[in-house]
Amino acid sequence: MSSTAQPFSHRVALVTGAAGNIGLACAERLAAMGADLALLDLNGEKLEQARASLSQHDVRITTHTCDVSDSEQVGSVVDGVAAEMGQIDFLFNNAGYQGAFAPVQDYPADDFARVMNINVCGMFNVLQHVSRHMIARRFGRIVNTASMAGVQGPPNMAAYGASKFAVIGLTQVAAKDLAPYNIRVNAISPAFMGPGMMWDRQVTLQAEAGSQYFSRDPKEVARQMIDSVPMRRYGSIEEIPGVVAFLLGDDSSYMTGVNLPISGGI
Ligand SMILES: NC(=O)c1ccc[n+]([C@@H]2O[C@H](COP(=O)([O-])OP(=O)(O)OC[C@H]3O[C@@H](n4cnc5c(N)ncnc54)[C@H](O)[C@@H]3O)[C@@H](O)[C@H]2O)c1
Repeated sequence: MSSTAQPFSHRVALVTGAAGNIGLACAERLAAMGADLALLDLNGEKLEQARASLSQHDVRITTHTCDVSDSEQVGSVVDGVAAEMGQIDFLFNNAGYQGAFAPVQDYPADDFARVMNINVCGMFNVLQHVSRHMIARRFGRIVNTASMAGVQGPPNMAAYGASKFAVIGLTQVAAKDLAPYNIRVNAISPAFMGPGMMWDRQVTLQAEAGSQYFSRDPKEVARQMIDSVPMRRYGSIEEIPGVVAFLLGDDSSYMTGVNLPISGGI
């Protein structure tokens, strides 16, 4: 069990996309602050690696292989977590998929549906099932991972951009619907985060997509992206957990329905 000296020692946090870069970094921070963790991801193998990497923290950790786009599966996992852990105080609703890169006229329709199913329906499913438990206890703090792609639609990312606009919309609606139950709902919008797979993938795929906005040379695309950031660098994954902890904690007690950019000034 967690130590009572830490700020989140009496809290249980459910983290989705917990096997991924941002999910794991935030789970790490919440564990360091004393929260017990329920880690959820589609990738069971990576999820166990994530659990192992968090084992130095003196908190309870459970793992759940689950597809967020399947409402029934989500409902049964969430009910199980609430029963096993006794409560769910925090939700970091973060699982997501970047999708293809192509101009809208060529964008593959099946990938569009897949992205919306994971990023929008998946986020809704988890939010809905978790909020029912939070309502019963009249307490909850939720952070949804949106993106700057949901603030300024980027070229060649029809599905991802549309899905993240929807996440910000869902955040605003849920903040209103859940405010009467002492549940706050906010979003974060990272921009370019790196180094790593997400950064490399978008640099490569934006170059391959071919458009008037980006060069065909990935090295040049990287420079173009960095030049679009006022702080002239990409963000580090480690610059996200503190913002998530702030939105889950009491220092943001009068904030709900807000989308916080983590974007170097974009
Ligand atoms: N990394 C960035 O540059 C960046 C920028 C803006 C927003 N984001 C958003 O941050 C979130 C996390 O991204 P990341 O960078 O950690 O990527 P990541 O690929 O490392 O992690 C995403 C995780 O979500 C999981 N996932 C995907 N589909 C799922 C499903 N149907 N059910 C359950 N889990 C599923 C994956 O298995 C993976 O572990 C995503 O919502 C992403 O859109 C990332």
